Amino acid sequence: INEIKRELKGALRQFPNFPSEGILFEDFLPIFSKPELFQKLIDAFKIQLEGKKVDYIVGLESRGFLFGPALALSLGVGFIPARKPGKLPGSVYSVEFQKEYGSDKLEMQVGVIEEGSNVVIVDDILATGGTAAAAESLVKKSGANVLEFLFVMELDFLKGQSKLGAPVYTLLTGQEEELK
Ligand code: PRP
Ligand code: MG
Repeated sequence: INEIKRELKGALRQFPNFPSEGILFEDFLPIFSKPELFQKLIDAFKIQLEGKKVDYIVGLESRGFLFGPALALSLGVGFIPARKPGKLPGSVYSVEFQKEYGSDKLEMQVGVIEEGSNVVIVDDILATGGTAAAAESLVKKSGANVLEFLFVMELDFLKGQSKLGAPVYTLLTGQEEELK
């Protein structure tokens, strides 16, 4: 697993001063352009979930959609999207949360997850934890349990984990001034 982590870390591309001055942006998109690296990303998450009873992967728009479905398919479980407001048809659960500037919402369709099922929530980055905490509320509104959170990277100095009520696994760790 450490070898996999090293390879994935090596594939990240750094963009200084993006999206704003003083931020070093770690771009994980190169992983997806190489099938062997993409497979390793999926394998690493599968290793973490080994022996656990997972019923659904919930992926968070947008970047959780890049690998959530691939992970779900390789586990043989369903994929459920949590989307930005106004994107999902029919009746939805909606949760408002704080972003750096102002507030945002995350939504999930009613009736897509069976009550009592075990859900793993996946996204690219855990920063302040607002997005992931909103996803956890959506899963709970459905009457399901959050078994675990999986992230590719975490900005741990933002203490996002403190907002979450289930174990967090992060594949790659970044420096304080890196990422997002
Ligand atoms: C980014 C990132 C996470 C979230 C983390 O998404 O992809 O989803 O922020 O931040 P938080 O822990 O402080 O909530 P963003 O909202 O920028 O949208 P995107 O995935 O659609 O690019
Ligand atoms: Mg996102």
